[in-house]
Amino acid sequence: MKQHSHNISYTVYQSLEELPQEIREQFLILEKKVKDAYAPYSEFKVAAAVKLDNKQWVYGTNQENAAYPSGLCAERVALFYAKSEYPDADVDTLLIITDKPFEMPCSPCGACRQVISEYEFNQTKEINLYLYSHHQVWFFPSATSLLPFVFSSESLKK
Ligand code: THU
Repeated sequence: MKQHSHNISYTVYQSLEELPQEIREQFLILEKKVKDAYAPYSEFKVAAAVKLDNKQWVYGTNQENAAYPSGLCAERVALFYAKSEYPDADVDTLLIITDKPFEMPCSPCGACRQVISEYEFNQTKEINLYLYSHHQVWFFPSATSLLPFVFSSESLKK
């Protein structure tokens, strides 16, 4: 028997001013876009921005429905749209913001982590992830680090 452990490292920015300029500008755009999320049931609005390796930025907000499971998180709206429009482009960066002034940033749900991880597996570069609260920004250099032991299509191979 052998004990194993798993660690992840991430960076905490104490203010928007500490961020790279491009990321700061995108968060300012997302602060406006998050207001347009369609979240009448949870009243929890989320917006995501995806930067592709072709330098294109694509945005998404969460979209809910009276038939609750039919809605979709902002991250998947943005990623699916990005990969539909630009199927050959790699995902460079993902930004996430909510309209709630919580201490802790909103981090992607398990289903979104699974989706982000698969795109990361399919490309050589890791996906940078920035999570914004109105107090701090958390930076993860690899999205897959948020989902250790991710389910992979390798498992389906006979
Ligand atoms: N939601 C997101 O869009 N992204 C997340 O990372 C967490 C949750 C949405 C789903 C639902 O519309 C609402 O927030 C409440 O869970």
